[in-house]
Amino acid sequence: MTKLQFPKGFWWGAATSATQSEGTVPGDGKGENIWDYASTHYRNRFFNGVTTAQTSRFYVDHEADVERMAAIGMNSLRTSISWSRLIPDASGQVNPEAVRFYRAVFSQMKAAGISPFVNLFHFDLPMYLQNEGGWENKATITAYAHYAAVCFEQFGDLVDHWFTFNEPMIPAEAGYLHDRHYPFVVDFKRAAQVLHNIIVAHCQGVAAFRQTQLTSTIGIIMDVIPVYPRSQNPADLKAGEMADLFYTRSLNDAILKGRYPEELVAVLQKYDQMPGAVTADELALIADTKIDLLGINYYRPRRVKARESEPNREGVFSPEWFFDSYDMPGRRMNTSRGIEIYPEALYDIAKKLDRDYPGVPWFVSENGIGIQDEEQFIKDGMVQDDYRIEFLKEHLYYLHKAIQEGSHCLGYHMWTFVDCWSWMNAYKNRYGFYRLDLATGEKTVKKSGQWFKQVVAANAIDY
Ligand code: BG6
Repeated sequence: MTKLQFPKGFWWGAATSATQSEGTVPGDGKGENIWDYASTHYRNRFFNGVTTAQTSRFYVDHEADVERMAAIGMNSLRTSISWSRLIPDASGQVNPEAVRFYRAVFSQMKAAGISPFVNLFHFDLPMYLQNEGGWENKATITAYAHYAAVCFEQFGDLVDHWFTFNEPMIPAEAGYLHDRHYPFVVDFKRAAQVLHNIIVAHCQGVAAFRQTQLTSTIGIIMDVIPVYPRSQNPADLKAGEMADLFYTRSLNDAILKGRYPEELVAVLQKYDQMPGAVTADELALIADTKIDLLGINYYRPRRVKARESEPNREGVFSPEWFFDSYDMPGRRMNTSRGIEIYPEALYDIAKKLDRDYPGVPWFVSENGIGIQDEEQFIKDGMVQDDYRIEFLKEHLYYLHKAIQEGSHCLGYHMWTFVDCWSWMNAYKNRYGFYRLDLATGEKTVKKSGQWFKQVVAANAIDY
């Protein structure tokens, strides 16, 4: 066994989000967001019908939770601000209860030596904006810029790293193409408009930040699903290029290179799928916007092959017209979530970042393993999650390798701190360093939490 040492000052922590952890209490002034609405009005789409009301109660339990973070050695945590808590209605007025809550949380974290990484948007659009067209409506971009400015003003003195969005592709893809998130639309052109508007909102958020005197950093968190074609045959390689173009480069090139890929524009024009409302001013803003720090969420690879049959061209246009997914024989699966486990990809991601987008400091902002029915692994009052420890070690091994070769990676955040509610899956997949007992609300450290404490103390893993 060797000790793999990480760079001095490495960020060790975990990530969560407001809607997934906070919960709400009567009188706190929080407005409704799309998840509060969807989980009550479309309850059967959510695992066991569990709504946003049943969370790990960070809103009331934050003092003890920060102590729990410190107890496993975390030196940083990413969470998000709930937009509909801070600005509960269309008037744009700020909710003082929300200011009090977030200031208390971030101050307490700092006092405990836990650096606050704060994200502005983690899928939870206020319902008053969704009702007016949500991210399809340019007014939402204006509202977002106002919200971002309020956050910088109210919490700027307490936050070390800001992020404009978590996984900006998801509201477009899951909400407007794949029928997974509210408003459950299936229309590529509308999805493309949503993605473009979110990118513009990101740019306006960065611009609002640049107008402040804050010395913290601003960045964005991207969901990266690296593409692996079945073979080196030209048709499989082409399938891989198309999957990467639609699901990764469409976004990453815009954010990190300041322009949409020409190949993407060409294919969208060919199939008449260009979003209708894209202005020259917006494209100029995208070209001018630079971030300080990039977060990479990595869970799984995407294996693809050339299509074996023609897509149904009468149906809705889709990136899947250009590739098929490939169930590679022998791949390792996380059966709870139905996704492949492939730690080597973290090395590949680092290499690709260095090659395609050089010079951007980055960190792993989410990585982890969700397990269904995790209570079966409880022994002596503790979840014996050796599978999680192995998973984390393997991923950290490949991350370490990339860092040794010069990749500018500054930290690693596990998803997540305490088992949390998730979009559609609710509490199906448990991810935390702490177990949440849904019936009693009790939180108990898992074996992986204890292991993590040793990792942070040594700034190293034994592998
Ligand atoms: C990530 C999201 O992609 O996946 C998180 O950023 C989410 O918000 C996580 O909770 C896990 O998802 P699930 O559906 O397996 O619980």
